[in-house]
Amino acid sequence: MISRHSHRKNEHVSLAEKFFTDSANADFDRVRLIHHSLPEINSHQVDPKTTLFNGQIKMKWPFYIEAMTGGSDETGKLNQQLAQIAALTDLTMASGSASVALKDPKTHESFQTIRKNLPNGNVFANIGAGHSLADAQKVITLLDADALEVHINVAQEMIMPEGDRDFHWMNELKNIVMNAPKPVIVKEVGFGMDQQTISTLINIVGASAINISGRGGTNFATIENFRRKHKEFSYLTNWGQTTVESLLEAQAFRGQVDIIASGGVRNPLDIAKAIGLGANAVGIAGAILDQLIQNGFAATVEMIKEWQNGLITIMTMLGCQNVSQLQSQHLLLDNELVNYVHQRQIK
Ligand code: FNR
Repeated sequence: MISRHSHRKNEHVSLAEKFFTDSANADFDRVRLIHHSLPEINSHQVDPKTTLFNGQIKMKWPFYIEAMTGGSDETGKLNQQLAQIAALTDLTMASGSASVALKDPKTHESFQTIRKNLPNGNVFANIGAGHSLADAQKVITLLDADALEVHINVAQEMIMPEGDRDFHWMNELKNIVMNAPKPVIVKEVGFGMDQQTISTLINIVGASAINISGRGGTNFATIENFRRKHKEFSYLTNWGQTTVESLLEAQAFRGQVDIIASGGVRNPLDIAKAIGLGANAVGIAGAILDQLIQNGFAATVEMIKEWQNGLITIMTMLGCQNVSQLQSQHLLLDNELVNYVHQRQIK
């Protein structure tokens, strides 16, 4: 018999796919990069590598497969394929939340398959806030992970019929950030972050990497609402800050913390814009899942290779030899975003 938790994992995948759209919602189309006609560069000089945690995590590409799944036979197969795709394309891969594995050893294989199929790449484990340091240590060990993502997902839990209702997370989150055996990324799940949250994560929790995971891609308000009998929370569909708005919220903290962007990234231009807005790395979940489910393994490898070539193309046109030069490009914001910056008093 499939457990309630495993069933939920399958549902999240099928509903993320059902509601997947590659239309522009994360606000990347409100941001422009400036073209230069004399970039004085050879495209072979472009090196797109990036690092997190002061070089502790090295990534050959500044984008990676973001946290999705594990916990059932079906999602174990997806993790196996995603890890093989990551290995073939030199990407890092984050696992979906492994909290189910703390309760059910039968699910272990669905997470361990990631390291098995990605022996030399970075693997990020994932767990929900509210878990203890001991739990965090267990999932790091189970996945043989290089880093741990701890997701903070209040909106998802509140709309999820069986979700948590107690959000006194900070003390244990701080304990995990300070004492976990691997570096920790604190991560949203598609509702974005504001300046206050980012400041608290840095100054009180002690986080040195934050994934602002904004609105505009996979939408857990929609997904969890669909799982409710009366589907009464449809008015929360647009809850949260978009990925671009969240990156604007993070401006004041550039240099103090590694910023990771995710949420609604649809192509290499979005990746370049996210980096231009300060991201050190960019996570992609829904678009990779959609390609894998719709078009299969080989097409997903091909899409990622095209994205890698696309990113080199954009960096060449901008005259950027590396990610840090891309981070210092001048970006233009449209009037709505200028208004956002103004009202939010972002400097
Ligand atoms: C997710 N996401 C997610 N995040 C997390 O921290 N732990 C998790 O277990 C999951 N589970 C999960 C399942 C599925 C099927 C999807 C598509 C996504 C959220 C994900 O990592 C990311 O933050 C958001 O999906 C936004 O990125 P995209 O999907 O718009 O690229």
